[in-house]
Amino acid sequence: MKKTAIAHANMAFIKYWGKKNLELNIPANGSISVNLDNLKSLTTVEFVEGLKKDEVTINGQKEVGEESRVSKHLDRIRKLSGIDLKARVVSENNYPTAGGLASSGSGFAALSVAASAAAGLKLTEQELSILARQGSGSAARSISDGIAEWLAGDTNEESYAYSLYPADYWDISAVVAVVSSEEKKIKSTQGHGLVESSPFYAVRLSEMSKKIEEMKEILARRDFTAFGELLEAEALNMHAVMLTSKPALVYWRGGTVEVMHRVRKWRQEGLESYFTIDAGPQPVLFCENKDVEDLVSRLKQIDMVKDVVVNKPGEGARLIEEHLF
Ligand code: DP6
Repeated sequence: MKKTAIAHANMAFIKYWGKKNLELNIPANGSISVNLDNLKSLTTVEFVEGLKKDEVTINGQKEVGEESRVSKHLDRIRKLSGIDLKARVVSENNYPTAGGLASSGSGFAALSVAASAAAGLKLTEQELSILARQGSGSAARSISDGIAEWLAGDTNEESYAYSLYPADYWDISAVVAVVSSEEKKIKSTQGHGLVESSPFYAVRLSEMSKKIEEMKEILARRDFTAFGELLEAEALNMHAVMLTSKPALVYWRGGTVEVMHRVRKWRQEGLESYFTIDAGPQPVLFCENKDVEDLVSRLKQIDMVKDVVVNKPGEGARLIEEHLF
């Protein structure tokens, strides 16, 4: 059976940085994110009789070796379903891989939905989130619709995301300012392992539960100013840990810092937007929909900004009928 799924990248308001369990991607703290409707992965999977090894093509390039992250994930699905066949997998992202836009999140969410269906499994949303999480932590959140909370949990069964609000809950946009297309040198997975080397990590961790509650309370009343202030402070807090890890993780480029300053200046001028940044150089600016046009035209005037991608909150991962092969 051939199955295809679509999943969106997600951007965290409250971030996942540091794991309790490196093998299972059980995070040290809970997190909250929104799916981005214009950043997506499409993945087709078919388990094929007679195939000697998994054949995986991502963005037109063949991945080799039984040990690839994708093959490992397929092993989880083979174990759950009892299927013994190797699979053909073709996946396409409509945005650069490993550029700090959580491509692993949308990729493993789409792979989990497509591969489990191709193996004949009928998993619940919670089971899919648990499965996707084991491929890449943030993928747990791309399974759910709109705005999702990932409950950290302590065990495999307790650590999953669920939808807090559907995609149409709030008229906000997430505007990605692409400032660099270089692949990052240290992937998030390695970065998570360095948190304990930062003297600030323990302080960060001690405040996370309170921050999650505060964000949930702000989301419930759709208070954009309070949301933006917490969003920005949280991103800077995570980057303080990154910058003080050993080795230090400096994900920002010149354009990143330029956009951060501009956003703050524009706020003084009355254009309300706030930035967040993941483990990469691209700032993602949140604004209310009424301000998108103004924000985009200002961003386009900055030389260091190479591209601008406007997103609305997106749906969760789901099966679709068109296949990639
Ligand atoms: C900075 O989910 O990419 O984007 O679980 O090792 O695959 P692995 O890490 P990953 O980490 C994402 C970290 C982040 C923050 C976030 O998305 O919450």
